[in-house]
Amino acid sequence: MPTQALFSPFEYKSLTLKNRIVMAPMTRMFSPGGVANEAVADYYALRAAGDVGLIISEGTGVARAASLNEPNAPRFHGAAELAAWKQVIDRVHAAGGVMAPQLWHVGAVPGQTAGWAPTPIDSPSGLLLAGKKVGEPMSESDIADTIAAFARAAGDAKRLGFDAVELHGAHGYLIDEFFWDATNTRQDRFGGATLRERTRFAAEIIQAVRAEVGADFAIIVRLSQWKGQDFTARMAHTPHELESWLSPLVAAGADILHCSQRRFWEPEFSGSELNFAGWAKKLTGQPTISVGSVGLSGDFISAFGGESSTPASIDGLLERLERKEFDLIAVGRALIVDPDWARKVGAGRFDELKPFDRTALGTLV
Ligand SMILES: Cc1cc2nc3c(=O)[nH]c(=O)nc-3n(C[C@H](O)[C@H](O)[C@H](O)COP(=O)(O)O)c2cc1C
Repeated sequence: MPTQALFSPFEYKSLTLKNRIVMAPMTRMFSPGGVANEAVADYYALRAAGDVGLIISEGTGVARAASLNEPNAPRFHGAAELAAWKQVIDRVHAAGGVMAPQLWHVGAVPGQTAGWAPTPIDSPSGLLLAGKKVGEPMSESDIADTIAAFARAAGDAKRLGFDAVELHGAHGYLIDEFFWDATNTRQDRFGGATLRERTRFAAEIIQAVRAEVGADFAIIVRLSQWKGQDFTARMAHTPHELESWLSPLVAAGADILHCSQRRFWEPEFSGSELNFAGWAKKLTGQPTISVGSVGLSGDFISAFGGESSTPASIDGLLERLERKEFDLIAVGRALIVDPDWARKVGAGRFDELKPFDRTALGTLV
């Protein structure tokens, strides 16, 4: 199939992209002591040189003591940390790339490194799952400080020269814990019986980020129905509920909605082929990014479990892009194993694409 739908340019506010391929945010934990070092800059610059249209960084922690749950995940605050990120964006630009950091707070989700845990954790109601208490609810002043930390990080991203920011509002981490009724049982204005009411925390972050970065700097917001705590979780059961979740975020200033699925071809609601990003675009009119198992035979959670994935056809993706169901497509694991994935696809060199298995996560190349 012709690949031009994937290789047409895209422009929106501060973003001018040469194609529709986005490197998905992927935590790699190769930033010793939270500082993204030269190897991290090399890694991203290589993907920029390989013709990725937009690189979204691994999740990087905002300035709250509990924002990260692993010691070698990068921070996005502090002089040494920001100087390191400046080196990353300069290298990416020099290689012809465009990049946004993914601003992250892990909320109540624990890490895997024994003896290393942020205390106290930040979360809406101290819950990791319904009924599973792991801490205390955030106070109003914790919430205000966290909103300010996201805004400061976004302002720093713009000052360092990044082209946009992404807010990690997906996968059961802090912002998503406010969306989800299982983890947000607050009785104040940050809680509520409806999904619309539970968007307040995210909306206030987006507004604060917008005030910091100005009207023309693109704000991407990543969202998911599924959670790391429950892969089957669904917060919006109908297009109407989805609209009630997304429209307050767009009204607050979200520009591009990055709709995380494990398999991009799965319909979001019965009776339509549209996926999550397709519905988000239809309901809000905003540009959207889809993601999930592009060019690979198995999904990333199965891959974490040890299943290998082999290269798979992207024809279904090209058809959806042709139909303009969504605007951009994020590619994760395929870009971990092959920095030249975009270039190879553009040249029709499909026979050179590589399989993925989890051993690839052990090195940063
Ligand atoms: C090693 C790894 C780390 C990830 N870390 C993050 C992350 O920091 N933030 C995030 O939003 N998603 C993260 N994800 C999910 C990816 O962004 C993406 O949605 C997922 O891998 C599906 O895309 P793929 O099937 O093309 O790999 C991670 C995925 C992998 C494989």
